[in-house]
Amino acid sequence: MYSNRRNFLKSSIAGTAGLYSFSSLFPFPKVYAQSLSEPDVEIVLSAKKINISLLTGQNTSMLGYEAKLVRGDSSVISLFQGGYMGPTLRFKQGQKVRITFQNDLDEKSIIHWHGLHLEEKYDSHPSYAIDPKNSFIYEFTVNQRPGTYWYHPHPHGRTAYQIYYGLAGMLIVEGGHEDQYDLPRGEFDLNYCIQDRLFKEDNSLSYLEGGGHDLMMGMMGDTLFVNGKRPIIEKLSKDAYRIRLLNGSNARLYKLAWSDGEPLTVIGNDGGLLEAPEKREYLYLAPGERVDLYRNFSNSNLYESINLQSIPFQQGQGSPFTLIPFEVNAEQKTQNVLPDNFSPIQKLDPILAENYDSPKKFTMEMTQGTGWTIDGLTYSMKQVREKETVKLNSMEIWEFENKMGMPHPVHIHGSQFQILSRMGSDIGFMDSGWKDTVLIAGGETVRLIKKFEDYTGYFPLHCHNLEHGSMGMMRDFKVV
Ligand code: C2O
Ligand code: CU
Ligand code: CU
Repeated sequence: MYSNRRNFLKSSIAGTAGLYSFSSLFPFPKVYAQSLSEPDVEIVLSAKKINISLLTGQNTSMLGYEAKLVRGDSSVISLFQGGYMGPTLRFKQGQKVRITFQNDLDEKSIIHWHGLHLEEKYDSHPSYAIDPKNSFIYEFTVNQRPGTYWYHPHPHGRTAYQIYYGLAGMLIVEGGHEDQYDLPRGEFDLNYCIQDRLFKEDNSLSYLEGGGHDLMMGMMGDTLFVNGKRPIIEKLSKDAYRIRLLNGSNARLYKLAWSDGEPLTVIGNDGGLLEAPEKREYLYLAPGERVDLYRNFSNSNLYESINLQSIPFQQGQGSPFTLIPFEVNAEQKTQNVLPDNFSPIQKLDPILAENYDSPKKFTMEMTQGTGWTIDGLTYSMKQVREKETVKLNSMEIWEFENKMGMPHPVHIHGSQFQILSRMGSDIGFMDSGWKDTVLIAGGETVRLIKKFEDYTGYFPLHCHNLEHGSMGMMRDFKVV
């Protein structure tokens, strides 16, 4: 079962394949038994304790990912200096990738590639979590649609804690059909992970000290972090930008809007580009979700401040707060015209679903004694009910009903799905294109359609309000 699990110390001595990945870090001769053909990109990603300055005064103890490039172009890894955010990984569609995860924490962990469609062991079902000082090698071909994804820990019951303490990074897939469009690239392609944190007097993180309330609501902070740092003014030129956003918060939902009233132009979501840009006055971004915005600042005034904000959920309730402050402070450098359309997305046809007449229902509930549940059940590793068993190469309709008032972002591992219907009429949802995480508002029902292709095995589905997920608002489904 743990065929890919390597004891780091042992393998270094024995000279097994595990050594290979560390060859550039340690002065060992390159002796290795090669398991796969040569990868195009090879990275060692380690998780460790870090101590950094986030606020004025004392440092904060956190956890961080650190990446070392063993093979491939240096553009694969980009770092955010001075914060806790993991490096952004940029892969090209079709690349063969080898990533060695080195667990230098003092607890179990494993990395999940959120949004990627991978076989069970690389998708990191929690049963693959490795012990401290062990490593795990991922080898896969990036056959994903280009887009904005992310990576984070996924050990059973500890995911919320480890992400809160800093373990997360963005993963961008480039190339493929995106190459045919003149989209903003390089310095005009920006990515931001938005998170909130709560601190104690001594600048150490405060986690779940609010007891039951924090568990019920999910952990929310009062201090905003963008890419692992307190937000700073982002200086732009009068150009068009692609702005990739990830809500990497444990539990906080944002209602995005531009401060100058300009509608948001959305070009992509969880699964990459939409069929065509869509405009929204505001947009919800729930934990785990991504959205790619496009904005051309050529008509902005020099030194104009334009902020990406989160606005009140109900009119008159509170005031907007700034997520990312932008300032236009340089003249235009390039010309960019947003295409009217992107590649068509094939609509999954409900008539062809295995269960066209009887969608599988899952209910998001609060159950006495156990807290947040799915169908009244909490997570029980690899315990699947009949409806949680699906046939390989089939397509099914799943329906999520939220019986309570609190919204739940439902994330399903494996390939991405399409949303068929949503009960409510709020315009702030981006339900087109491919999704892997969908927000089910209070009292709402959402129907989606999903294919189960390529890989058999156990895959989790869970609430991406991380405290809910860790509490047990999670199930496995099994592809057979
Ligand atoms: Cu982003 Cu199962 O998680
Ligand atoms: Cu995932
Ligand atoms: Cu939830």
